[in-house]
Amino acid sequence: MTAIDLSGVSKAYDGNPVLIGVDLAMEEDEILAIIGPSGVGKTTLLRLASGLERPDSGTVAILGTPLTYVNGRDLPLKRHMAFILQKPVAFKETVSENVAYGLKVRDIDDTEDLVAHALEAVGLAEMGDRMATRLSGGEMQRMAFARATVFEPSILLLDEFTANLDPQNVGVLERAVIAYQRERNATVVIVTHNLFQARRISTRTTLLLGGRLVETGPTERIFEEPEDERTRAFVSGEMVF
Ligand SMILES: Nc1ncnc2c1ncn2[C@@H]1O[C@H](COP(=O)(O)OP(=O)(O)OP(=O)(O)O)[C@@H](O)[C@H]1O
Ligand SMILES: [Mg+2]
Repeated sequence: MTAIDLSGVSKAYDGNPVLIGVDLAMEEDEILAIIGPSGVGKTTLLRLASGLERPDSGTVAILGTPLTYVNGRDLPLKRHMAFILQKPVAFKETVSENVAYGLKVRDIDDTEDLVAHALEAVGLAEMGDRMATRLSGGEMQRMAFARATVFEPSILLLDEFTANLDPQNVGVLERAVIAYQRERNATVVIVTHNLFQARRISTRTTLLLGGRLVETGPTERIFEEPEDERTRAFVSGEMVF
């Protein structure tokens, strides 16, 4: 089944169109990379896909059911998803308490093993008792990943999840994403400026330009044999913005 299906989705801010009739099926059991220049609407696309924002026209369906945008009604659908924001925030509590949050709101009381497993996956097993607000940038992003995955969502949306991190933290997080996806056949969607990262971890890539998806296909083909001239220019770094 398609995890998230965007159909004819358009969105404008203050009269400026950002997305124009976008069709995109985010499939189960894939890592889909959304690439494109800064300000083109990648975060907007993720916000629409997650139901955080409502399209001006078009529909967004989660696991086959269209979002209604009626207060509270989409909650069961949204609970299949986790969205890691470009700039993660921490509550003024311990790392473990931060990670347990997603379980508490789902009325899961027995959190200890699940939290330990999620922290282990990002190399934070020893840091559960630390104050989350004092973590380094890299530790914070790893904690955000643990918090997003602890309740085992089938759909994971990641917005620049390794931006501004050193290569070691990038490696830890990329391996955690791949392991998570494989273990659960999850749907993972990453937005990234890092074309090397898209190549390393995604199975499919789509390029967003001028409000439209220019080309979507298997990652290797998009990078090695793009069909659209704009894709070729973008992935080779020739495109000037
Ligand atoms: N709430 C909003 N109100 C007004 N304009 C907005 C809003 N959200 C986004 N925009 C505008 O929409 C456009 C797309 O923004 P978006 O954040 O989706 O881009 P992006 O591709 O994620 O960029 P980046 O790569 O820099 O993160 C930008 O011009 C932005 O200024
Ligand atoms: Mg963005």
